[in-house]
Amino acid sequence: MARKIILDVDTGSDDAVAIMAAVLSKDIQLEALCSVAGNKDIDKTTENTLRVVQLLGADVPVYRGCRTPLVKFLCPDRLPVRKSKGPLVVDGKEVQMHSDFLDVPPATIKEQPISAPEFYVQYLRAAPQPVTIVAVGPLTNVAMALLLDGTIVDKIEEIVIMGGGYNITNTSPTAEFNIWYDPEAAQHVIHCGAKVTLVPLDATHAACITLDDCKRFRALGTVAGDFAAALCEQRIMVHSNSQPLAVPDAAAVHDALCIAYLIDPQVLRDVRHVHCDIGFRDFCEGQTILDMRYYTEPVNCYFAFDGDRQKFASVLLDLFARSEKTKS
Ligand code: BDR
Ligand code: CA
Repeated sequence: MARKIILDVDTGSDDAVAIMAAVLSKDIQLEALCSVAGNKDIDKTTENTLRVVQLLGADVPVYRGCRTPLVKFLCPDRLPVRKSKGPLVVDGKEVQMHSDFLDVPPATIKEQPISAPEFYVQYLRAAPQPVTIVAVGPLTNVAMALLLDGTIVDKIEEIVIMGGGYNITNTSPTAEFNIWYDPEAAQHVIHCGAKVTLVPLDATHAACITLDDCKRFRALGTVAGDFAAALCEQRIMVHSNSQPLAVPDAAAVHDALCIAYLIDPQVLRDVRHVHCDIGFRDFCEGQTILDMRYYTEPVNCYFAFDGDRQKFASVLLDLFARSEKTKS
């Protein structure tokens, strides 16, 4: 039976790949998409989410989520503003990891009338069986829902989170973006008592997607294959020019790895049950602090220290092959 999931996104180039993968999988029943502020403001992440749903002609409701982090927005010195070294210009054109708007037609389909945290509470209270939450943006909506009604934790099968890093970080010397954006929300969610699986940068950089993989996606001649190839190529250009990976001509497509994990858990390697806390202030703001001592504090998270790039690419290829053929 297909696994029911709710996917929480700040769409976002890699979020878009994750949404397509979830929509196309026969092993996953995508119950809803919840947008959250992160990569872009909430208007843009919601619009981009609707655009991907519309592109695939999918029948999945979209709920607009939180527009600010839980606590940080109250502290002027902690506003989540991404530091950048200035725009990246390649061949005279500015290239971004995440364009403001995805390069597909504007959405004519509409979001749902209630907010994402309200949806979580209503849906989970009524759910006959526990469902899985896959959160690939900041954890604001999920934390907010748990704050509204803590009993919904009993209806959560697993929370799969793209976030954190042990040996690799990307937003500060100690932090990964999603966790750094809303550290208080992350701390609440990873300690809520549900099974939590963290898919951090250590796994997503290892399970990278290459230009050759993009060629294979495009050769499928499908809507999802073409769009995924374009998004991954854009990410490869940015990685190659500003953050090269160990594998040449490759990019992390972080969020899609969480979906692939639900289909084939072997895409994650070296998964260890650990105690994790989140750093809140100063140099450790947003850090996933793991207790690696022998006599560790009680364990609360599964943390993937590695990933398998061949398996990941093959899962995505199979999924994108299921999408509608492009007209020639
Ligand atoms: C995470 O941050 C965002 O930029 C990506 O969409 C991904 O979820 C990687 O740090
Ligand atoms: Ca994301």
